[in-house]
Amino acid sequence: MHIPTILTQAVLSLTLLSSHSFVSAVHVQRRATVCNGHAELCERGYGNVTFVGAHNSYAVGINNLATNQDYDVTQQLNDGIRMLQMQAHNLNGVIQLCHTTCSLYNGGTLTDYLKKVKTWLDANPDDVVSLLIVNSDNLPPAQYDTAFKDAGLDTQSFVPDAPSLPQGAWPTLGSLIDSGKRVVTFLSTTADYNAVPYLIDEFTNIWETAFDVTDPNFDCNVNRTSGDPSTQMFLINHFLDKLFGGIAALPAPDKDSANVTNAASGFGSLGQHVQTCAAQHGRNPNFLLVDFYEFGGGSVFEVAATANGVTYNPTTPIASPLPDTPSTPNKGDNQDSAGFRIAIGTSLAVVAGLFLGLSFVA
Ligand SMILES: *[C@@H]1O[C@H](CO)[C@@H](O)[C@H](O)[C@H]1NC(C)=O
Ligand SMILES: *[C@@H]1O[C@H](CO)[C@@H](O)[C@H](O)[C@H]1NC(C)=O
Ligand SMILES: *[C@@H]1O[C@H](CO)[C@@H](O)[C@H](O)[C@H]1NC(C)=O
Repeated sequence: MHIPTILTQAVLSLTLLSSHSFVSAVHVQRRATVCNGHAELCERGYGNVTFVGAHNSYAVGINNLATNQDYDVTQQLNDGIRMLQMQAHNLNGVIQLCHTTCSLYNGGTLTDYLKKVKTWLDANPDDVVSLLIVNSDNLPPAQYDTAFKDAGLDTQSFVPDAPSLPQGAWPTLGSLIDSGKRVVTFLSTTADYNAVPYLIDEFTNIWETAFDVTDPNFDCNVNRTSGDPSTQMFLINHFLDKLFGGIAALPAPDKDSANVTNAASGFGSLGQHVQTCAAQHGRNPNFLLVDFYEFGGGSVFEVAATANGVTYNPTTPIASPLPDTPSTPNKGDNQDSAGFRIAIGTSLAVVAGLFLGLSFVA
């Protein structure tokens, strides 16, 4: 009879088929279905996504003109920050995250900071995080490599196929996540693809707008690059400074304007800056660097979501703004006309800055 034969064949094929599927299933990697919070972003190239970045992410504190954030890196990541910008300095042979100088503000060692990032990444396996390191003392990549190894982040770091990639050539967020290489690190100077290939040269890959501006009319002009801006990703420095200290004025974050600066719309807002830049350059900025990201109640993340064509819908509310508190008020307190309130420590820091002839550089 033919029927049993056919049946046998059918069973045999099914067996082969299922064992084949089984074998493939064993070899197929886990596939992320939600990437950086959105299913739509899994198939999107890294260079075609807009991320919110924390400017001087390690410079945390209130009542201190040398700080740019109220909450530390873990809270920043919890709330949606996906680029962490930092200033690295050499202090007795150790890489330290300091603002302008380590005597002005010292945010601890790079290694300790990277360990916090690693802990967060381990708890959040479907997210890609970028690091932007301003290499203030031009330290060699090998020294950074040691810190990354100590924190266990070297093995999670993405290595591009070439030292610089055009905006359209970056892998998708899904493939970065699936490959376990979810840390994308840019170094502002001394990057050497042959020495440490995951420390990616910033300015051949990214151009930036002006930083430390005191005019809320943020422009979208190419300010720093060492590549071709028409094919590079780009970063907008969207944080407003104000001059403190009278005659010898020093630029420091204008925290009183942070709600307006971070807003989704209106003059001087992040939303307006993104729209202006998209109109001027034909595509959205990739990185939006902000101060005090939680001012605006999530507006900075809403702006990025809009740019990405997704909906900002956080499962839990983000952290609340921490306004500076007035310094110990004497009655008849001189909260002066400029409206800035400087605690004792900050005043000393300003004096130190003046003494050294330095400004609070971004
Ligand atoms: C970059 O921006 C700063 C601040 O606005 C400005 O002084 C400088 O001339 C700009 N440089 C270039 C090359 O555009
Ligand atoms: C910013 O907005 C928050 C929430 O609306 C508000 O509590 C805070 O007072 C505002 N801060 C400033 C400096 O305008
Ligand atoms: C991504 O591509 C879309 C479609 O070309 C474009 O509208 C958007 O501005 C791009 N975003 C970025 C960050 O490149």
